[in-house]
Amino acid sequence: MKKIVSVILAVMMLLAAVSMFASCKKEDNTLVMATNATFPPYEFYEGEKMVGIDVEIATAIAEKLGMTLEVKDMEFDSLISAVEGGVVDVVLAGLTVNEERLEKVNFSTSYAKGVQVIIVKEGSDIADVDGLEGKIIGVQAGTTGDIYASDDFGEENVTKYANGALAVEGLKTGKVDCVIIDNEPAKNYVAANEGLKILETEYVEEMYAGAMSKDNEALYTAVAVFMWLLTTVFSREY
Ligand code: ARG
Repeated sequence: MKKIVSVILAVMMLLAAVSMFASCKKEDNTLVMATNATFPPYEFYEGEKMVGIDVEIATAIAEKLGMTLEVKDMEFDSLISAVEGGVVDVVLAGLTVNEERLEKVNFSTSYAKGVQVIIVKEGSDIADVDGLEGKIIGVQAGTTGDIYASDDFGEENVTKYANGALAVEGLKTGKVDCVIIDNEPAKNYVAANEGLKILETEYVEEMYAGAMSKDNEALYTAVAVFMWLLTTVFSREY
């Protein structure tokens, strides 16, 4: 019974959000999603095409809103300012909700949990987080992994790469002693590169959500409600 009431309520909320949003849609009717497509399984290239969980979610949202989805691949570092300034409509990028970002953008309900993990070479003497002291850590620039590692172990011990794949390359060629990155891409990178492993100790746990401009309340409501529906009523897990 409770479930039925919440489904009815949710559908009503969605309809209200969609009609509110319909009144202030852009003329070209596109929903522009920005991401950084080096983050499998959330966003990555299959040939020329960007695919992954975030692209799927955005496709479903655009469809519900009667819009055409356009996906833009950008530097991870510039995603927040792009959405903050209205250059793009929404960022879906395995993006972690944190205080600093909350000051600049609105976040939807979160749709997945992320865990920052540590990748090392097999045979490495690093066994856990304490073992990172004095080591050189590779990260993707601007990510939460970058922020935590720089705070905990000192900026001078952190090497920032444009993307996770380059950080992993840095580990393979001995430029860094480990890589701190989110668990799902970590699994992908380790599976694709021999001689690497993920340490069992988890570093930090976090939540992913879609980010929107604080100036576009209507889009924010529409996307947030849809995301909420997806994760609660339809119990989708990503
Ligand atoms: N979850 C981390 C963060 O928000 C990393 C996200 C990286 N995403 C990407 N598409 N490259 O900072």
